[in-house]
Amino acid sequence: MCLTQAYKSPINYTGNKYRILPQLEKYFPKNINKCMDLFTGGSTVAINLVANEIIAVDNNPRVINLLKFLKKQDYCELINKIDKTIEMYGLSNSYKNGYSYYKEYVEGNNGLKKYNLDGFSKLKRDYNNLEDKNTNEANLYLYVLMAYSFNNDIRFNSKGEFNIPAGKTDMNKNNREKLKRYIDICNCKKIDFVCKDFREMNIEDFNDIEFLYADPPYLITDAVYNENDGWGEQEETSLLNMLDKLSDRGIKFALSNVLQKKKLNIKNEILYDWIEKNNGKYFVNNINYHYRSSSYNKKNRDGLEEEILITNYKMEE
Ligand SMILES: C[S@@+](CC[C@H](N)C(=O)[O-])C[C@H]1O[C@@H](n2cnc3c(N)ncnc32)[C@H](O)[C@@H]1O
Repeated sequence: MCLTQAYKSPINYTGNKYRILPQLEKYFPKNINKCMDLFTGGSTVAINLVANEIIAVDNNPRVINLLKFLKKQDYCELINKIDKTIEMYGLSNSYKNGYSYYKEYVEGNNGLKKYNLDGFSKLKRDYNNLEDKNTNEANLYLYVLMAYSFNNDIRFNSKGEFNIPAGKTDMNKNNREKLKRYIDICNCKKIDFVCKDFREMNIEDFNDIEFLYADPPYLITDAVYNENDGWGEQEETSLLNMLDKLSDRGIKFALSNVLQKKKLNIKNEILYDWIEKNNGKYFVNNINYHYRSSSYNKKNRDGLEEEILITNYKMEE
């Protein structure tokens, strides 16, 4: 498997693996026919994997439905609809009008937030009031909301409402490019998005899978992907048991995780025990990882987390 160039997902997802893709890639097996990106999140890893067939799985229906919706769009038609939505809600369009057009609204470090506040709140209300969240309209609204949200984040509260406040940026050149590239990639790669809880997967779901990349929520970090679900010891243990079974069936796996937060003296004991139990069978590879700013990421730095990749195979030369 070889990632010639790392592509960004159109969804800026908490904990995404963009920055460490080149490091992960070194450990991924080559010449894979069918692989799986379990816990795909924003699909950063899935869209960059090189294989004939890629299955991307996550239990977040909103994210999976959005990825599926964007995947099947014609870029020009979609961008037209996005621009119409932007206009309808009176949101800024720095790509069309230039950033300086909005300069009287820019206060301190808040970028376009003030200009977009009202339109963003109305769009958020309209989206949250939609009964069916998987129509083309709902997915379009969700994408636009994300482009105007704080850090371009996407998250929902326990009632399933989008709950990120307005951010500094808009549907700028960068967002347009990421969107176009994502649609292009989906047109030339065979990527299928599946919404499923990993605990509900059965052996048929792994038919012909040769390699599985797993990037679950980390037991000892605090990233929140969805207020509905937590990740606890039970989920951690189920996942490790599942990886053992898949390994016995000859499937190669690579599991991203964090073993300890040195400064805070916190360890993932379940993972430690599992590695120890499988000593000689599984390999722990250290990934040199520095998350960039954001509240979640600062915590990571303070806790000196050590990102690791556990594989059930030795790195290929
Ligand atoms: C660390 S994030 C994955 C980030 C992803 N690798 C990326 O680059 O964007 C973990 C993901 O696991 C998903 N998740 C949490 N619990 C799950 C479960 N029980 N089954 C499947 N997916 C789950 C979350 O929705 C979240 O998207």
